[in-house]
Amino acid sequence: MGTVEEAKADESVASPSGTRDALSVIDRRTGKSYELPIVNGTIRAMDLRQMRTGPSDFGLMSYDPAFLNTAACTSRITFIDGDAGILRYRGYPIEVLAEKCTYLEVAYLLRNGELPTRAQYDQWVKDITYHTMIHESLKKLMDAFNYDAHPMGMLIATVAAMSTFYPEARDVHSRESRTKQIHRLIAKMPTIAAFAYKHAMGMPYVYPSNDLGYCENFLTMLFKTPAENYRPNPALVKALDVLFILHADHEQNCGTAVMRGIGSAHTDPYSALAGAAAALYGPLHGGANEEVLKMLEEIGSISRVPAFIKEVKEGKGEKRLMGFGHRVYKNFDPRAKIIKRMAEEVFQVTGRNPLLDIALELERIALQDEYFVKRKLYPNVDFYSGLIYQAIGIPSDAFTVLFAIPRTSGWLAQWEELLEDPEEKIARPRQVYLGSGERAFLPMERR
Ligand code: CMC
Repeated sequence: MGTVEEAKADESVASPSGTRDALSVIDRRTGKSYELPIVNGTIRAMDLRQMRTGPSDFGLMSYDPAFLNTAACTSRITFIDGDAGILRYRGYPIEVLAEKCTYLEVAYLLRNGELPTRAQYDQWVKDITYHTMIHESLKKLMDAFNYDAHPMGMLIATVAAMSTFYPEARDVHSRESRTKQIHRLIAKMPTIAAFAYKHAMGMPYVYPSNDLGYCENFLTMLFKTPAENYRPNPALVKALDVLFILHADHEQNCGTAVMRGIGSAHTDPYSALAGAAAALYGPLHGGANEEVLKMLEEIGSISRVPAFIKEVKEGKGEKRLMGFGHRVYKNFDPRAKIIKRMAEEVFQVTGRNPLLDIALELERIALQDEYFVKRKLYPNVDFYSGLIYQAIGIPSDAFTVLFAIPRTSGWLAQWEELLEDPEEKIARPRQVYLGSGERAFLPMERR
């Protein structure tokens, strides 16, 4: 990193062709110079290919394991400025959407690019509501899982199986067909999630009800039993709706990259979404909310927080403070701020989750500790969400399912954007081969 003066001086340096929006490169292997256009703050990796040492040289590639600095697409859906802690969907700040919209309004915005009018919203809600039932055979398929099957495993498998129920979904180039699948997926995810929960509890499934809103319906399918009536507390319905808005999209995260990767092969959206959900399941991604709860339970009391922090620091990356750190946010995660505030509101209804005090102490100490400060590790979206889910009565192994339900709208918006993008092709990264060269084959008896 140079000084500010150096940076200013650099700005005035024009490339040989006279344009400032270009990168001038000298390949020291050959002494040749090149000029690479800079568009939208990027150079094209394919522009490196012309840099060769000779006719048999394949050409220069960029090496970027884990995509630390590679834009794989253009997008108009979600904007993140990780240093400033900014998250916007289609230009609207997440704080404003969380305060003023419903989740389904946001799902419409993600897909269509604009907030719905009243008539558009009513139609959208109706279309989703009237697709919440799942096929009885799909229900039987869910019955086949073991009583202790992880709900994410059930969700992934059931969503993948849906592709066999809706074969027309393979027509990914028809907007009409896509619209149908989008309604189905957004509508049926809560039903599948609730059935997975009931299956684990050994209780009869509760069918969706068309006179209930999206989150109200979900909570009812979770907690109603044949033995008694259940009306979810409106404050909890609202809290869940806000959580769904916060989780709806997050540009090119691991799960979304998988959705786009599978989608780029023109696979149907159910199979692609099952893959995205499988990525989300991982403890470094959406599975972190479940891990946070395990960690807080393991710590057990405020007095043991310093010892735990010490273990994390001495573990040198082996043991992590779950719910902390983010690839993109290096200042704070704006979603975590909203969730932390909301946790207090939820606890007024449900009673205070005793693990909150441990979480607060963990955050307090970590934010002062040089190890975390130096690495810019702050609480992420998963740090407080699990405490709210637990207070609502949801078991910890179902937390990631509650992430997957709203992320469905983001995955689908990104998938459709990919399909409509004329620049997109099947995703196919390159590799740097470091294995052995050609070897003579040895028959088994001589090995
Ligand atoms: N606890 C302790 N140390 C950490 C943590 C953590 N949670 N996260 C990162 N570090 C350290 C890491 O050991 C490394 O240290 P060093 O430079 O000494 O090797 C440094 O910070 C950079 O870590 P990294 O793994 O290179 O960072 P990354 O951008 O690849 O990883 C992350 C991002 C989210 C996977 C990581 O921070 C992490 O594992 N966090 C815990 C899991 C978690 O909460 N995940 C949810 C992410 S938000 C929801 C979502 O989008 O899915």
